[in-house]
Amino acid sequence: MYLTAEEECILEGEEGETLRKAMEILVALGDIYGADGLIPIKSAQIAGVSYKTIGDAGLEWISDLKGQVKVPSVLNPAGMDMVRWDEMGISEEFAKKQKQIVEAYGSLGINTMCTCTPYYLEGFSVGYGDHLAWSESSAVSYANSVIGARTNREGGPSALSAALVGKTANYGYHLDENRIPNVGIRVECELHGADYGALGYVAGKISGNRVPIFSLTSVPTKDELKSLGAAMAASGAVALYHIENVTLEAQKMNYEFPEEVSVVERSDIEEVYATVGGSDSNSECDIAAVGCPHCSPEELQSIADMVAGKTLEKEFWVFTSREIAEKYPDLVETIEKSGAKVLCDTCMVVSPAANNFQHMAVNSGKAYNYVPGMCRINSTLCSVENCIKKVVSDDN
Ligand code: F3S
Repeated sequence: MYLTAEEECILEGEEGETLRKAMEILVALGDIYGADGLIPIKSAQIAGVSYKTIGDAGLEWISDLKGQVKVPSVLNPAGMDMVRWDEMGISEEFAKKQKQIVEAYGSLGINTMCTCTPYYLEGFSVGYGDHLAWSESSAVSYANSVIGARTNREGGPSALSAALVGKTANYGYHLDENRIPNVGIRVECELHGADYGALGYVAGKISGNRVPIFSLTSVPTKDELKSLGAAMAASGAVALYHIENVTLEAQKMNYEFPEEVSVVERSDIEEVYATVGGSDSNSECDIAAVGCPHCSPEELQSIADMVAGKTLEKEFWVFTSREIAEKYPDLVETIEKSGAKVLCDTCMVVSPAANNFQHMAVNSGKAYNYVPGMCRINSTLCSVENCIKKVVSDDN
């Protein structure tokens, strides 16, 4: 892989040990994947934040790093709401370690707003064709597919290395030839809301790590596209998808429908709703959680409309970024008056808090897929309305 004289100096350690290590990681990845060189990135999003997933070894690794990131960079969700962690049933020991992790990232100049929807943040704008180094799989999918930006599905260390150097290796989804769809999915039913999470769950299994192009009979909202991409990245390894006449790149590039086509019908969607994730299909939902990926203002508004005036008797968690929660205090207040909790900086999958329950209702195909494995509890996929029905008191 070609390196400029300045990049060679970094690799030789002339700018310190942290940058040397970072450059070593980028060069190793570039060599493995046949990159011709490094390209500048506009921003980075760094996974590997929850103490639940990275543990003491991760904390130690991050704490040893010195320096400052060269591009706007933000963190993925942590293992707890950084302010209301005790309300989630998080132990003091976990909270202490989690704070140390976030502080260590913050000392590198990284924005410690922990979110998987960085594209909603002010000052973090992303445009068509921008090169990025993002690591959370739903954020990667949204950036590539909905915005038309270009990022590989980075690991935590490689996204952090790219943030420190301000560049990433030029391979994979940064290149035109890897963005062409190679499997077609024809959906023969109308879809709405959580249906897109169910479709993503099905389509991820069909696609694996390929690039699907969809033909749909309905026009999805951006929130529905977010949900579709998140689920596909979880049940498969889809980092980029296109939709005929919907996503920008499919229209600009005039992509053709590939020869291999799978058909998805209403019965495929219903089967996902009817199948409990996890080992105990007879257990009752004792919690509902939405906001995977983190809620947009529009999603918060619609949840507020649905719970206004209701009393919930079981836990109902709504996840969003702290920036959005702080911008819309009235929506947060309306939701919380019902007994629900609007939690920030974390989610139902990366927090250990979910392990205290038996069966979680979710409206997200991604959470449905991951909750049984990551939290060791059962999951049911349903619409937000049905999630609320499962936790509302009988008096409503
Ligand atoms: Fe985000 Fe957690 Fe879902 S990181 S995409 S809310 S699993």
